[in-house]
Amino acid sequence: MKTIQLLIATLAIIASVNADAPCTDANATGGSVSTCYCKAGFYGTVKDATPAGSGCAACPTGTTTTGAATSQAAIALSACSACFDTNATNNGSSSAPACTCNTGYFGNPSTSSGGSGCQKLATCTDTNATATGATASTCYCKAGFYGTVKDATPAGSGCAACPTGTTTTGAAVSQAAVALSACSACFDTNATNNGSSSAPACTCSAGYYGTPSASSGASGCQKVATCTDTNAAATGGTVSTCYCKAGFYGTVKDATPAGSGCAACPTGTTTTGAAASQAAVALSACSACFDTNATNNASSSAPACTCKSGYSGTPAASSGATGCSADSSKLLPLLALLFSLVLLI
Ligand SMILES: *[C@@H]1O[C@H](CO)[C@@H](O)[C@H](O)[C@H]1NC(C)=O
Ligand SMILES: *[C@@H]1O[C@H](CO)[C@@H](O)[C@H](O)[C@H]1NC(C)=O
Ligand SMILES: *[C@@H]1O[C@H](CO)[C@@H](O)[C@H](O)[C@H]1NC(C)=O
Ligand SMILES: *[C@@H]1O[C@H](CO)[C@@H](O)[C@H](O)[C@H]1NC(C)=O
Ligand SMILES: *[C@@H]1O[C@H](CO)[C@@H](O)[C@H](O)[C@H]1NC(C)=O
Ligand SMILES: *[C@@H]1O[C@H](CO)[C@@H](O)[C@H](O)[C@H]1NC(C)=O
Ligand SMILES: *[C@@H]1O[C@H](CO)[C@@H](O)[C@H](O)[C@H]1NC(C)=O
Ligand SMILES: *[C@@H]1O[C@H](CO)[C@@H](O)[C@H](O)[C@H]1NC(C)=O
Repeated sequence: MKTIQLLIATLAIIASVNADAPCTDANATGGSVSTCYCKAGFYGTVKDATPAGSGCAACPTGTTTTGAATSQAAIALSACSACFDTNATNNGSSSAPACTCNTGYFGNPSTSSGGSGCQKLATCTDTNATATGATASTCYCKAGFYGTVKDATPAGSGCAACPTGTTTTGAAVSQAAVALSACSACFDTNATNNGSSSAPACTCSAGYYGTPSASSGASGCQKVATCTDTNAAATGGTVSTCYCKAGFYGTVKDATPAGSGCAACPTGTTTTGAAASQAAVALSACSACFDTNATNNASSSAPACTCKSGYSGTPAASSGATGCSADSSKLLPLLALLFSLVLLI
């Protein structure tokens, strides 16, 4: 009988030891190995599971679970959804830190319960400014705005929006005046900023057509078509918009039916611009002479420009070049020589 009592007592002790047995998994909690679950703030599969899990791991810095696990089933990383810092939000990163301060807050999210982390940003007087700290002295022009922030000392005239389609490459980093030239970026990567202070300041880059997008993500300038006729340029997305380039005449190869092609204007002449349709461009459209001191004699064979009367030389064959010059420039020294001769006699 005594032996039986001793045995029962021993079994009871063993059972109670088993009930209080520490979990194999140091990151688990529970009364017995069969009820060892991941602790609050841990995720994964508890080592005490059958078959054994790979273990409970701490949630990424700043995050926690809303409580301990309630079973030995795997706890997904996504269970680490709560941020200790009530002014922060979990961005789902599996690498620490996963909590970032909410919009309107700055600092480092607190990594444990009760810690003080993200703090409220100052409210700027300038509605086109944004603060980076707790005081108005950290109010700078927002991304896409230029000028001098009203919150500066002395007060600035305020941040103004960049011309339509343009933006700064980020928010200002100090209260120093942000020049209009800081609005150098075009939202549309296929457009170029022409520096205009009045909207729109972005124009489609060479080889693109359309209206530049006025905001990030919008679709604006699109690539022009590649013309069969190398002396033509497209104004739109299809070859039906391929017209003779400026300085060329004839019928574009891309026309329907196909033309014989655009040909260069006779030397020294040009058209007043590119063709505006696929209709034949007459040779007579090559009416302009690059040289303002020359006249077009309508020859279809180069050169078609001759110096105006009173001018001599070779007409300039391209824009900007010098060509015909006034005869008087040659006549004057001659007249001077003649005058000196008369004086000598
Ligand atoms: C407990 O969690 C920590 C943090 O994730 C980890 O470094 C450690 O290896 C874990 N311990 C066990 C026994 O799995
Ligand atoms: C989450 O925020 C942290 C801290 O700011 C950052 O390092 C990480 O890249 C972010 N991850 C994602 C997926 O946004
Ligand atoms: C959240 O922000 C408020 C206002 O700035 C601050 O009083 C509070 O301490 C912040 N909470 C934490 C946990 O840091
Ligand atoms: C903010 O910018 C807009 C656009 O330039 C402007 O119309 C407005 O007056 C600015 N607000 C302030 C407070 O300066
Ligand atoms: C810039 O482009 C816009 C839009 O095409 C135009 O209205 C403006 O005159 C151009 N300004 C300059 C300085 O080129
Ligand atoms: C730039 O042009 C390419 C090619 O036409 C087009 O796919 C893209 O959408 C354009 N980008 C924008 C911002 O419009
Ligand atoms: C036009 O001028 C050029 C160059 O002077 C000359 O060779 C050509 O004969 C002229 N043609 C006509 C039609 O006058
Ligand atoms: C036109 O003639 C004037 C006077 O000789 C000269 O100054 C000018 O450079 C000439 N223009 C060209 C395009 O050659």
